[in-house]
Amino acid sequence: MDLFEYQARDLFAKHDVPVLAGEVIDTPEAAREVTERLGGRAVVKAQVKVGGRGKAGGVKLASDPADAVAKAEAILGMDIKGHTVHKVMLAQTADIVDEYYVSFLLDRTNRTFLAMASVEGGVDIEEVAATKPEALAKVAVDAVDGVTEAKAREIVEAAKFPAEIADQVVAALQKLWDVFVKEDALLVEVNPLVKTGDGRIVALDGKVSLDANAEFRQPDHAALEDKAAADPLEAAAKAKNLNYVKLDGQVGIIGNGAGLVMSTLDVVAYAGEKHSGVKPANFLDIGGGASAEVMANGLEIILGDPDVRSVFVNVFGGITSCDAVANGIVQALELLKSKGEEVNKPLVVRLDGNNAELGRKILTDAAHPLVQQVDTMDGAADKAAELAAAK
Ligand SMILES: Nc1ncnc2c1ncn2[C@@H]1O[C@H](COP(=O)(O)OP(=O)(O)OP(=O)(O)O)[C@@H](O)[C@H]1O
Ligand SMILES: [Mg+2]
Repeated sequence: MDLFEYQARDLFAKHDVPVLAGEVIDTPEAAREVTERLGGRAVVKAQVKVGGRGKAGGVKLASDPADAVAKAEAILGMDIKGHTVHKVMLAQTADIVDEYYVSFLLDRTNRTFLAMASVEGGVDIEEVAATKPEALAKVAVDAVDGVTEAKAREIVEAAKFPAEIADQVVAALQKLWDVFVKEDALLVEVNPLVKTGDGRIVALDGKVSLDANAEFRQPDHAALEDKAAADPLEAAAKAKNLNYVKLDGQVGIIGNGAGLVMSTLDVVAYAGEKHSGVKPANFLDIGGGASAEVMANGLEIILGDPDVRSVFVNVFGGITSCDAVANGIVQALELLKSKGEEVNKPLVVRLDGNNAELGRKILTDAAHPLVQQVDTMDGAADKAAELAAAK
């Protein structure tokens, strides 16, 4: 989960990384009071989860409270690379002497963590990394040892930070490593880390990405989720523990196993080319169990998607046999009916693998008017695409 800058700032403050005072608002008028509290001047910063905000006009200096209201008004509602600005952060202004870059990230290729640092930080760091790679120091960080004082010094020396701020950067790096480890982050980036006129080191902009796999031991992280941005169907699926991703097509997809569902998306997209260009409407992996309840939950989410015109249930029986899945489908349709949910879209079911014969017989005997069976994956994809196109 990527965080907004203001959330990263809060986490930095929690772990004693030096930051400036800041407050987040969502109406222009609120900028007046906040700017007064911040000392009469403020930097107004768009809060969007995308880089390059400054260059897009999303970071502006306000010289007084009235100016802050005007700048907030201009930035709120702005579109930055497809992201609408719903919130701005007002931050204390820094007297910047120099801008640096530091980050910690997971280096999957080398099976370790990586520190990156440069004394040429600021809005052009991507350019520096591309054209002057030697100016971006990279230092491996061992997962067990972490960023000790010695490791922080190694990073500071590799990036050639000036001697007079070396101790402060060493301390900041160790605190940022605390953020990385204690918050279970996959990325902690500060750009720019600045030196101010009075010689202090401050993190002016932060980017943090948290590891969703660590949710179970980070109870505070749920509150950081951007609920407004979440797709309502995805949110409903998440509440039911389903692995669901909304896509923008018309053929609802249910399968067991992520690999099978991925290839189902491919064959449906391919089949759709012959049928008015219909596409998969979602990814949904109901996993190994495929009980009636899980099947009903999955169908409920998919049938609740107004874009869906047909549903393709693609199951390969492995440990879970096809007869169990077929019973799950039959019971799921009854369950939805008893809940008063209208099932009014055609379902194409393909069962193969363990006990496929019996599974098919169960569906044939149930003779649900909206369910039809096709025995091959390509054939079923074609049928589902055809039905979606016909509607
Ligand atoms: N509080 C501040 N006081 C003074 N100048 C600031 C402050 N915050 C940012 N700036 C200036 O604005 C520039 C851009 O700000 P920032 O790094 O927050 O946005 P950005 O880099 O454009 O966004 P992103 O990191 O998402 O690409 C900084 O490099 C810095 O020069
Ligand atoms: Mg930045």
